[in-house]
Amino acid sequence: MAPVLENKQILCGITGSIAAYKVCDWVRSLQRDGAEVRVVMTRSARKFVTPLTFAALTGNAVHGAMFAALDEERIPHISLARSSDLILVAPATAQTIARLAHGLADDLLAAIVLASEAKVVVCPAMNSRMFQHAATRENIRRLKDYGYLVLEPECGMMACGEEGPGRLPEWPQVRDAIIASLTPQDLAGQTVLVTAGPTEEPLDPVRFLGNRSSGRMGYAMAAVARQLGARVILVSGPTGLAAPPGIELIRVRTAAEMYREVLSRFDVADIIVKAAAVSDFRPTELSAAKIKKSGEDVSLPLTANRDILQKLGEIKDQRPSPPLLIGFAAESDNLLAYGREKLRKKNLDYIAVNDITAADSGFAVDTNRVILLDRRGGQTEFPLLSKEETAREIWRQVLRGSVSATRSA
Ligand code: CTP
Repeated sequence: MAPVLENKQILCGITGSIAAYKVCDWVRSLQRDGAEVRVVMTRSARKFVTPLTFAALTGNAVHGAMFAALDEERIPHISLARSSDLILVAPATAQTIARLAHGLADDLLAAIVLASEAKVVVCPAMNSRMFQHAATRENIRRLKDYGYLVLEPECGMMACGEEGPGRLPEWPQVRDAIIASLTPQDLAGQTVLVTAGPTEEPLDPVRFLGNRSSGRMGYAMAAVARQLGARVILVSGPTGLAAPPGIELIRVRTAAEMYREVLSRFDVADIIVKAAAVSDFRPTELSAAKIKKSGEDVSLPLTANRDILQKLGEIKDQRPSPPLLIGFAAESDNLLAYGREKLRKKNLDYIAVNDITAADSGFAVDTNRVILLDRRGGQTEFPLLSKEETAREIWRQVLRGSVSATRSA
């Protein structure tokens, strides 16, 4: 499977902020995602990080001067402008933002941006007073009018000792914005409801019945749906994961809470992805006080939880335009037979089956090996992939299967 940014030419425009050093790691990450990275540094950026650092990281000469063509035949600002799919201006100082806002072409980076038709992603980083000044706000508004994507800086303590908005955005958010900018928006206009993580069924104030789900697969399904342009609502059980950027996150604890939150949004969802590992049972009694030991064995009466996906499958055809239902199945044996059975019983369009006994697949690992079954008898086996890549392949397959054709099948 091709990495997500394969064949993409990304130009990093680095300007004079102390945050410039952070972009060294970003360049590495872009390369791991398959992108070809070239770097342009402004004169002041070179005071913070040497061009040699970026030249060594990218294997390409770093550009800087307007009239220092590396290849006599070509004019650098025009050739770099033409060959880039995306220009990432990071960190973007108040000075560079002002330059871009006013269409100046007095340094190589500004000239490239002016001459390019590539997507432009701008990551401001500056003192918070400079960021909040009306002039900077107005300049940023102009950049947005030009169609550039300007990310919000983070709040917090800055190198100058002041606190406020102005810190360079975190890489996961920037990476997500880059991928989304270069991804066809095939889910634009669709609302995708995703569930993820385990549920916890309390027994007393300190104990609960839970499971080993980390939530990573569901969060990846949500993040990739957003990159594809969907509005995404994520109903998540307790996980240690950060909220994916641009997603409406609803946190729940128990299967009953998840049931309520999902069912109340049933009408707005065009696609529902049930990646959560919902507890099938809950302790019949919830003790208000911590249960004390007595030295004797105890047995725990359990009550069956409602099956959320089963319920969605029962009611989906009542809607004039039924939502597409995608389930997940955690199996330890007879993967295909149990998967098909769940697909049929729960009236699903797709089910992603994974073998939870394999060390590199299923719960609490970064990778997964999934077989996707569809209601028309189709079966696609994916190799061992990261959960993000697995999510991308599942969405690719679902989109290829044509949402509307599957719905009416
Ligand atoms: N599911 C659900 N509500 C439940 C149990 C499961 O919505 N109370 C959903 C899961 O989110 C998943 C699918 O049903 O998409 C299959 O879950 P899985 O745990 O594999 O299967 P179960 O239906 O619980 O069956 P079993 O435990 O017998 O394998």
